Amino acid sequence: EWSMETYIAKEGEKLRERVGDKEVLLLISGGVDSTVAGGLLLKTLDPNKVHFMYIDTGLMRKGESEEVSENLKKLGAKHLHLIDARDRFLGPLSGESDPEKKRKIIGNMFIEVQEDEIRSTLSGDYFLAQGTLYTDLIESGKGVGKNAQVIKSHHNVGCKAIEEKREAGLIIEPLEFLYKDEVRELGRILGISNTIVDRHPFPGPGLGIRIIGEVSKEKCDILRDADYIYVNELRKRGLYDKIWQAFSVLLPVKSVGVAGDARDYSYVLALRAVVSSDGMTADVYDFPMKDLLEISALITNSVKDIGRVTYDISSKPPATIEWE
Ligand code: XMP
Repeated sequence: EWSMETYIAKEGEKLRERVGDKEVLLLISGGVDSTVAGGLLLKTLDPNKVHFMYIDTGLMRKGESEEVSENLKKLGAKHLHLIDARDRFLGPLSGESDPEKKRKIIGNMFIEVQEDEIRSTLSGDYFLAQGTLYTDLIESGKGVGKNAQVIKSHHNVGCKAIEEKREAGLIIEPLEFLYKDEVRELGRILGISNTIVDRHPFPGPGLGIRIIGEVSKEKCDILRDADYIYVNELRKRGLYDKIWQAFSVLLPVKSVGVAGDARDYSYVLALRAVVSSDGMTADVYDFPMKDLLEISALITNSVKDIGRVTYDISSKPPATIEWE
């Protein structure tokens, strides 16, 4: 009979047999899938042989990079390679406001940084591991336009260092036969905290597509501060798990407000919260008005560059979940 425990035992045996005493490098994004893949590798292999590589693009949420490393350390990780690539992403993004071009810049830079770092971290016959899921494999190649980018960011298509590993038969995808729900269950069994296992989806290009128009370090910091308050409040108020995806969007508009006797112009933030089963269609979350008003006040009172907050009441279709 199939159970997650027998799955872990069988996968573990297969992995140990395949890997032998070679080293493994797992590419992690900080999301559910790669963290669970990490937990599984640490449980089944010798932790001294397992390396983790995480690229900080500068487009991550507040505290995210620290959280990723803390979680992996708790799971027993010994070798964490945290790559600070913030300047490599923010540089080329400056001056660009077209959403598809921004996606392309971020996607290409990701591949470039990954390429450099994979080659300089380990050498020889080691295995490269990824947290790819069954659904990522089914979706392959079907995407057009924006969806093609979604798929591309899952698959790291175009990264030569990864392709070479694939040709050499040195790729490990320990979650390749699992669906998302099963990955979550596996995560719980491996002792990964609920705040990771039940996390909302986060797009590959990160805050790069949640800052509408031109991206800058300053805008990233403003959005990070505001979104941190939003998501923390959702958790505190028991709303987070009722929502499929919630996030903040920084608009390229400055709107007037009062600051003492003067008129003061500052940014407008849009809050998004949707319910959905797969992200293909989505309904607006019926946000309790009291919570919405309180959260908005908390944001405008504590993030000085945000003077006004709006709630996005558009469903998908015709709108998309993200704003870009
Ligand atoms: P949309 O905005 O198309 O989003 O309704 C549907 C789901 O896909 C995510 N999304 C992305 N994920 N790269 C990603 O990895 C992207 O470029 C991208 N664009 C949208 C979005 O967060 C939602 O979960």
